[in-house]
Amino acid sequence: MARFPTLVRCQDLGLEPDFCGKVREIFDLGSELVLVATDRISAFDVIMDQPVPGRGALLTQMTLAWYEVFGRGLCHHLVHADAASLPDPFRAHADRLEGRVMLVRKAERYDIEAVVRGYIAGSGYQDYLASGEICGHRLPEGLKRCQELPQPIFTPATKADEGHDENIDASRAKSIVGEAAFSAIEAESMRLYSEARAYALERGIIIADTKFEFGLIDGELTLIDEILTPDSSRYWEKDKYEVGREQDSLDKQILRNHLLSLDWDHRPPPPHLDEDLLQSVADGYVAIFHRLFPERAEELGLR
Ligand SMILES: Nc1ncnc2c1ncn2[C@@H]1O[C@H](COP(=O)(O)OP(=O)(O)OP(=O)(O)O)[C@@H](O)[C@H]1O
Ligand SMILES: [Mg+2]
Repeated sequence: MARFPTLVRCQDLGLEPDFCGKVREIFDLGSELVLVATDRISAFDVIMDQPVPGRGALLTQMTLAWYEVFGRGLCHHLVHADAASLPDPFRAHADRLEGRVMLVRKAERYDIEAVVRGYIAGSGYQDYLASGEICGHRLPEGLKRCQELPQPIFTPATKADEGHDENIDASRAKSIVGEAAFSAIEAESMRLYSEARAYALERGIIIADTKFEFGLIDGELTLIDEILTPDSSRYWEKDKYEVGREQDSLDKQILRNHLLSLDWDHRPPPPHLDEDLLQSVADGYVAIFHRLFPERAEELGLR
């Protein structure tokens, strides 16, 4: 995708981030943050050495497109996503940051992951097998792997700095964020998930679950971070969905299948990947974007 030149780390531009996630890098400007989504990709919790060209930009564009779906009713952190209007020194690198950068208002973050599940998969399914519950929600007996739940449930998790997040029940989440914030976060998360899920399903994609993050900006509950990307959500192909087994991940399965075919123990260092494989993973993100946001894809000239 020539439109978004690949970027593996901001250091390559001479920019030193204040924080590096697996994919994103963050610059703290005081009351605002510059968020840059790189083209790094992880699988089995290991960051690959090579980028998936354009992936970070596609993830950022998805977040922006979801904001448009929700429209004015949504309170989010974005100031703008126009690289040419960034302050120095970022503006000088506008050609490399365009599409993958967002200037956002810095929030006082609520330290829970606001997870909503419409289907029972991953750690939720493991919890259910062990206890019949997820985060204190007692569920009907006999649910199968990846089965659709009678209705979506709010299943918060801790934000672990290291290791895996831990699923927690409502009372524990309330003790972290407070009772009033919990209710507001739960209600907004459920609303956004339900709308997004219906929107995606009409376009042949199941959003099985998703994770939001919230914070306070000027005393107002505000949606922060990326939203509803395949990095923060499970995206499944509706036409291939079958209850009772694991589902392929719409974005990462090609990579995972390839890695599974290798004699690799899922520990760093990651294996070298062929350009062809990386390109097909990249094409997958473009395809997802076209399906969800065809008009926006045309405007962006995504191929
Ligand atoms: N407006 C905001 N105010 C404050 N913090 C924010 C805001 N938007 C996003 N964040 C924080 O920025 C961080 C993004 O980094 P994160 O570690 O999630 O990177 P990542 O590349 O997504 O890595 P990972 O795959 O490990 O999640 C998150 O901790 C998120 O809470
Ligand atoms: Mg993250």
